[in-house]
Amino acid sequence: MVGITCYSSNDLLNWIYKGVALPVSEDENSDFVKGSVMERPKVIYNPKTEKYVMWFHLELKGKGYSAARAAVAVSNKITGPYTYIGSKRINLGQFPYNMPENIRNLNFNLQDFEKWWTPEWYKAVENGLFIKKDLNGGQMSRDMTLYVDDDGKAYHIYASEENLTLHIAELTDDFLNHTGKYVRVAPAGHNEAPTIFKRNGVYWMITSGCTGWDPNEARMFSSKSIWGPWKQHPNPCRGNKSEITFGGQGTFIQKIEGKEDAYLFMADIWRPKNPIDGRYAWLPIQFENDVPFIEWIDEWNFDFFN
Ligand code: DGJ
Repeated sequence: MVGITCYSSNDLLNWIYKGVALPVSEDENSDFVKGSVMERPKVIYNPKTEKYVMWFHLELKGKGYSAARAAVAVSNKITGPYTYIGSKRINLGQFPYNMPENIRNLNFNLQDFEKWWTPEWYKAVENGLFIKKDLNGGQMSRDMTLYVDDDGKAYHIYASEENLTLHIAELTDDFLNHTGKYVRVAPAGHNEAPTIFKRNGVYWMITSGCTGWDPNEARMFSSKSIWGPWKQHPNPCRGNKSEITFGGQGTFIQKIEGKEDAYLFMADIWRPKNPIDGRYAWLPIQFENDVPFIEWIDEWNFDFFN
């Protein structure tokens, strides 16, 4: 519980510890005081401001997972120290930009939908039941990733609406805020752990289901535009234990610089009873008819991509 740490590598195999990039606060009044939950940090570089921008999922100390906030910090150096800016829910007062006017105007009473997973509840979620609940406080944000597109625009992708629906939200030019423009992916689909990459003009997103710290079956979506429509594909994992993502849960997809068409699917293997003992499983993304798939390989190196 020291904060967010940093490691560096020239080859993704050998790693050097670079220290604590964003230390937790010792001030009990701070939202990121020691004992708060800081998950899934991501750092992107902004060439205009020449700053490194870190976003992460923040839960307030002693409040379980109810805060559902995103936090942002900034630094001149990738290794930090990062200056903490603050945490918040997202896109306060904003509807998804493609939600039609007649759906925005539908009003729901949350008490009418206490029973989840009924056909009426699905319809209401699709029509913004939880968007409207959080319209004035801002949208919930838990598992998250960041994505910088070829045109330099950055997006924050996060599990929102009680982890029921993913949001893809555009960041401002300095990457420190949200512009208010966002879309939803798979309403009520219960996706978390979003990871994304783009290949030959197609965006691919690999996510997980929501089963706490236990692994589950990965999901995959594709779209020709970041704004959708996103189409769901079968589980990208193949073979033994593919129904539990080989025991892991995705956290990032890294494009391997210096190799053609090479993408690394990076998964966390959680050890909830002893979190510091958590492990990673990194596997190459393979393609069949241009559709990504992942299979377990006991041992491999980057020659795989040659
Ligand atoms: C699974 C998420 O992907 C993790 O980041 C974490 O939030 C746990 N759930 C908490 O149960």
